[in-house]
Amino acid sequence: MSTDAIVLLKNDHKEIRKVFREFEKAGENATVKKGQLVDKMIELLTVHTYIENEIMYPEVRKLVPDLEDDILESYEEHHVADVLVTELFALSPDAERFDAKTTVLIESVTHHIEEEEEEWFPKVRAALGRKQLGELGERMLAAKEKAPRSPAQPSALKKTVDALIK
Ligand SMILES: [Fe+2]
Ligand SMILES: [Fe+2]
Repeated sequence: MSTDAIVLLKNDHKEIRKVFREFEKAGENATVKKGQLVDKMIELLTVHTYIENEIMYPEVRKLVPDLEDDILESYEEHHVADVLVTELFALSPDAERFDAKTTVLIESVTHHIEEEEEEWFPKVRAALGRKQLGELGERMLAAKEKAPRSPAQPSALKKTVDALIK
């Protein structure tokens, strides 16, 4: 299995988008199913933003200074997603705003993923060697093991606080 950092992150993106599509086609009255899909989204996004925030972003910022602005914008997009994820975590699937909030989360994360994949991941690949990307990927795989899986865990909260003060 490849440990290339970009391959790993793109695989996460694929999994996240699949759950988004399932939500979008679940239908108006599939409250239980949509609740489960949002639980899955919350878990996937909590783990994914954690490994990007903790490893990928700081490392790219250090190694590819030209991408500083992209990284800062990405941190802000993660923060917006974190806010929505935290609110959805506390919201019942039959709440009036549940679908609307989820739709906004899907739109904003989809846009963010597109920017990562199309705008700056290719520049990271061009700047870092295979070996560096492999090492980065190994560190992310290890971080995944201890990553928070819900926004209620303290390590997930730390990530939100960091986004505000760092
Ligand atoms: Fe991201
Ligand atoms: Fe990502």
